[in-house]
Amino acid sequence: MTPEIRQLVEAAREAAKQAHAPYSTYGVGAAVRLSDGQIISGCNFENASYGMTLCAETVALATVNSAGKLRDVREIAIVGGLIKEGAIQGIESVHPCGRCRQIINEAAQLSKHDVMVHCAAAEGDALNSLPISALLPHAFGPADIGVG
Ligand code: THU
Repeated sequence: MTPEIRQLVEAAREAAKQAHAPYSTYGVGAAVRLSDGQIISGCNFENASYGMTLCAETVALATVNSAGKLRDVREIAIVGGLIKEGAIQGIESVHPCGRCRQIINEAAQLSKHDVMVHCAAAEGDALNSLPISALLPHAFGPADIGVG
């Protein structure tokens, strides 16, 4: 893991500590790096109706959007694991769900960069770094509806 990726993974781990996940007891953190080096993070946000849960990647990218910086997205790190005794545990790398892949693709289309997705773990050095084009091939995007 390069120092740059490790920094992003650590930011995702820090964000995951704030996960509101009393139903699944699975905490997720995501950290987005922008073109100027700024890191913006998010964690999953569950609620009692279950289906309206917000994933960590979605929260992080919505925050980036609120800062007007969706076009500056370059890479994102994701970590997650079961919450046990107040800590998030797990050594397997976590890959984004389908909905989050679509949202990452939106940032990739706007930024005109094949955003790198670093799928890491809550603990340890597991890492699977893939461009969003590999995680969501043949994606439906803005160009399909004549935008951009
Ligand atoms: N989750 C994420 O935050 N990101 C993903 O890409 C997959 C799933 C969250 C949603 C839910 O709070 C918990 O993980 C278990 O599914």
